[in-house]
Amino acid sequence: MKRNIILDCDPGHDDAIAILLAGSNPNLNLLGISVVAGNQTIEKTARNALNVATYLGIDVPVAIGCEFPMVRERVICAAIHGESGLDGFDFPKYDKPFDKRHGVQLIIDSVLNNEDVTIVATGPLTNVAMAIKLEPKLLNKVKEIVLMGGSVDNGNTSPAAEFNIMCDPEAAHVVFSSGIPVKMIGLNVTRKVIVTDEVISRMEKINSKPSDMFAKLMKVFNANQRNTFGVKAGPLHDPATVACLIDESLIKFQKMNVVIDISHGPSYGRTNCDIFDYLHAPHNAYVAMDIDVEKYWNIVEKGIKAY
Ligand code: BDR
Ligand code: CA
Repeated sequence: MKRNIILDCDPGHDDAIAILLAGSNPNLNLLGISVVAGNQTIEKTARNALNVATYLGIDVPVAIGCEFPMVRERVICAAIHGESGLDGFDFPKYDKPFDKRHGVQLIIDSVLNNEDVTIVATGPLTNVAMAIKLEPKLLNKVKEIVLMGGSVDNGNTSPAAEFNIMCDPEAAHVVFSSGIPVKMIGLNVTRKVIVTDEVISRMEKINSKPSDMFAKLMKVFNANQRNTFGVKAGPLHDPATVACLIDESLIKFQKMNVVIDISHGPSYGRTNCDIFDYLHAPHNAYVAMDIDVEKYWNIVEKGIKAY
């Protein structure tokens, strides 16, 4: 049976590839895409999500979600994702409309009207947290939340915090303390899947519409990573969420207590992962500890070829 998923995202280069994987796997039933502000403003991330879906022929509702985080001021990430949020690829002008519902409502409807829905989240957790607060029935109805965010070690936005969690730590707190099963895929794992020049040319060789999008986006993504972090190539974070649903052996998870730092101090937005169970506190999340890199790129390649 196909697995029902809803994708909440903020495209974003790596989010675009998460959409690509979610839309092309025969074992996944993508119910819709809700969009949140994060890598860029909501106008831009929403437009990008609709463009990617339309370009790839993924015919699902795309709904505009939250513009601002729950408590803190908004943060965006133009240094990596550019002015458009998806610099490097020019999409044709489409006239396909957005779904009329708010992104939060799309999440709620998708969960309540279908069985065993997994929420895949690749951006700040504002929409997901708002959905949980607006419709408490979600607490018993969501199968699990699989998210890219956090880290068991250092951050990429502050010494302590990873970008998605940093953008809305209070929302992350709502999600991690909700009681819904959470799978957290953080930087400690996604930093292992570097989209090197070899990876780009391997995908480029497929020579199709999706591979062209992949290669053009990744070249700009890497140039921006180089200018910002001084690395040759960047980590392709977000597709790891969808990939681990496609192949359950891809990522090794460990169940543990995770607390989000919402203290507004220097560690604001840190995912405090109690790997050694010092606190004997409830194990509220499955935390990604390792990934099979070769399998990962095979999944991405297969996802591109599936169109
Ligand atoms: C996360 O931050 C965003 O810039 C990426 O899209 C990814 O979701 C990595 O920290
Ligand atoms: Ca993202």
